[in-house]
Amino acid sequence: MKVTVVGAGAVGASCADNIARKQLCDELVIVDIKEGFAEGKALDLMQTAHIEGFDTKITGSTNDYTKTAGSTVAVITSGIPRKPGMTREELIGINAGIVRTVTKNLLQYSPNCIIIIISNPMDTMTYLAFKESGLPKHRIIGMGGILDSVRFRYYLSQAIDCSVNDLQAVVIGGHGDTTMIPLTRLATYSGVPAAHFLDVETLKKVAAETMVGGATLTGLLGTSAWYAPGAAGASLVEAIVRDEKKMMPCCVYVEGEYGQSDICIGVPVIVGRNGWEKIVDYNLNEEEQAAFAKSADAVRAMNTILSSL
Ligand code: LAC
Repeated sequence: MKVTVVGAGAVGASCADNIARKQLCDELVIVDIKEGFAEGKALDLMQTAHIEGFDTKITGSTNDYTKTAGSTVAVITSGIPRKPGMTREELIGINAGIVRTVTKNLLQYSPNCIIIIISNPMDTMTYLAFKESGLPKHRIIGMGGILDSVRFRYYLSQAIDCSVNDLQAVVIGGHGDTTMIPLTRLATYSGVPAAHFLDVETLKKVAAETMVGGATLTGLLGTSAWYAPGAAGASLVEAIVRDEKKMMPCCVYVEGEYGQSDICIGVPVIVGRNGWEKIVDYNLNEEEQAAFAKSADAVRAMNTILSSL
């Protein structure tokens, strides 16, 4: 089985590293437009094979998509990352052109692949890839909700002082600082509601920290984060290639679910060999449903910019 990662920058390399270490495929192709860059990352990663004990063959390619032919899954990380003070939405002008071209190139050689989008603004890039590719909706998945949810769990674990692995907590809605919705009501510590351990103010603080989780890292690093985004992308690849039927918050094309249509937005889905297989209904309360509608309006407004590019 072959997996392709497009973009050999920090997120793409971290994603490829995780895919190789977990041996999710026997062939892994990394593509980048910068001459020799993907080849270099592939060679460096291949030299970790003995240390990490994997047999995945990693190949780099400077924009030669023939090498990606027959990929089962392709992860698109290409585009520019945000700088401190920038929103993800400000990247749309440049990244839309890149994601459009990459999607076209991938499908030329892997018409049956499942495409994972990491490039920002992620919800709009997922919508763009869906519209441009003409692929069935189940084969286009945006990664943002998985990343936002692991950040939510991190901040919750700090506040409760517990293992992050004992927490269930999910973020839905858009992957933007003001559009994501950490569902504090549904967060549990081994089945016990988080509200049993934290007061309302602390829960609100955790939600606020989660929402600016990416911006906090961009401020510290001078560019956007890569370890968690890369690992989150690989976890999605894993759920697909191992047919895990995992419930993951992903950005997918909705047709009436959660009261929304004709956008890609974060909702809980079951992920397996066919991509995202079905949307799960969380039975949101009125307040959550209103927040979701507001988030969808913001994502939709961003999507309308696409037609002017
Ligand atoms: C982040 C970027 C990758 O949230 O969207 O870190």
